[in-house]
Amino acid sequence: MSAVCEPDIHRLPNLQAVVKETLRLRMAIPLLVPHMNLHDAKLGGYDIPAESKILVNAWWLANNPAHWKNPEDFRPERFLEEDAKVEASGNDFRYIPFGVGRRSCPDIILASPKGSNAFSISMSTR
Ligand code: HEM
Repeated sequence: MSAVCEPDIHRLPNLQAVVKETLRLRMAIPLLVPHMNLHDAKLGGYDIPAESKILVNAWWLANNPAHWKNPEDFRPERFLEEDAKVEASGNDFRYIPFGVGRRSCPDIILASPKGSNAFSISMSTR
């Protein structure tokens, strides 16, 4: 029996789903880190003056029952079934445990299964 190694991660969809579900339900940084807008902005009908402190409630985005089926349940299968296309990369604003955009967490490369795979490939080709 051979050992399971990092390059195998892309062949372990259940493991990926468990990691994603853990990060959804028990988000490490539920309000992300504070951001600031440089210019006046309008968002969802609200006026946001320049230099406001912005806290994004990423936990609520990932646990809002209006957008998730039984969000209080630990159910990794959701990431294999109805939410199979959702990635932490920011392709779906309901799920941003690493933030999104230019100031998002650089560790997403290592921590997310897809990134981890890309990382192992880049290391093995050196
Ligand atoms: C599962 C583990 C981790 C999670 C869930 C996580 C999550 C986050 C979040 C939510 C942010 C704020 C993003 C935003 O506000 O848009 C952040 C920022 C950051 N994280 Fe992580 N992080 C993790 C691990 C790490 C590790 C291991 C490192 C370093 C090796 C790291 C380095 C950073 C840095 C440098 C920033 C600031 C990026 C910037 O402001 O440009 N993170 N992380």
